[in-house]
Amino acid sequence: MAFLKKLAFIGAGNMSEALIQGILRASLLKADEIIASDVSQDRAAYIQQKTGVAVLPENTQAVKQAETIILAVKPQAMNGVLEELAKLLSPDQLIISIAAGIKTETIEKQIGINKPVIRVMPNTPAMVGCSATAICKGKYASDEHLQWAVKIFEAVGYVAVVNENLMDTVTALSGSGPAYIFTVIESLIDAGVELGLTRDIASGLTIQTVKGAARMMEETKEHPAILKNRVTSPGGTTAAGLHALEKNGLRHAMIEAVTAAKNRAKELG
Ligand SMILES: NC(=O)c1ccc[n+]([C@@H]2O[C@H](COP(=O)([O-])OP(=O)(O)OC[C@H]3O[C@@H](n4cnc5c(N)ncnc54)[C@H](OP(=O)(O)O)[C@@H]3O)[C@@H](O)[C@H]2O)c1
Repeated sequence: MAFLKKLAFIGAGNMSEALIQGILRASLLKADEIIASDVSQDRAAYIQQKTGVAVLPENTQAVKQAETIILAVKPQAMNGVLEELAKLLSPDQLIISIAAGIKTETIEKQIGINKPVIRVMPNTPAMVGCSATAICKGKYASDEHLQWAVKIFEAVGYVAVVNENLMDTVTALSGSGPAYIFTVIESLIDAGVELGLTRDIASGLTIQTVKGAARMMEETKEHPAILKNRVTSPGGTTAAGLHALEKNGLRHAMIEAVTAAKNRAKELG
């Protein structure tokens, strides 16, 4: 891989923390091959102490030392950061933005021509090394840039490469997805409690059921309908439960949720 100089994180918040930890855990880079910067001194000290990565107070200092720069500030802080860094950046440096909703074209326009930009949408399970991440490349990024970005984000989970016009859909599906699943989990726990289980037991059984179902899909590679049919015996309990789910429109509700989130992402973008 041609990218030998440091990897810089601009903004050392939650997502950077998860990524740095994942990269170190996966031995993709060593702590001294990573650098970060953050406006908050407390945050800088915390990340430095927790990961061994140097966190500087100046974004410009971090950028000068890096070949790959991950922009990990909130979307509303991106404009200021891009203005600050634009003149410093060269076409030899790869910019990776994880800011939700900000297009590669917007970044390219702000930092000037011919500079490679990659846009990434991870999700919160990155914090536990289990992110679902989508990646797309801008006009000036090469396939090699893309492969390097994929490697970085594979350190915290699954990565899919998509066209940028699908990023709002990704935001609506996997970006917002953990919130949908948390709601499903909460509902199942509440049902268990209503029907006599303690909250602890209902919670343990539900979490393991969701994890187990996801793992079965991952390992068997079967269509979910096949796996569902296998646990649905004629006239049995699961068939009765599934009938109630269909009657109450779970499938429709999920499709509407993702569609509404996509429309909202488009509006905000
Ligand atoms: N968390 C997620 O699940 C998730 C998922 C997908 C995408 N993202 C994207 O990831 C990005 C980071 O999210 P996050 O959750 O990690 O946010 P975060 O925890 O707020 O981290 C951002 C960090 O950057 C610092 N900062 C603010 N302005 C700065 C500047 N001008 N220069 C340097 N540092 C600056 C912040 O300090 P202060 O707090 O003092 O302002 C904070 O420590 C966002 O753009 C978000 O859209 C996050």
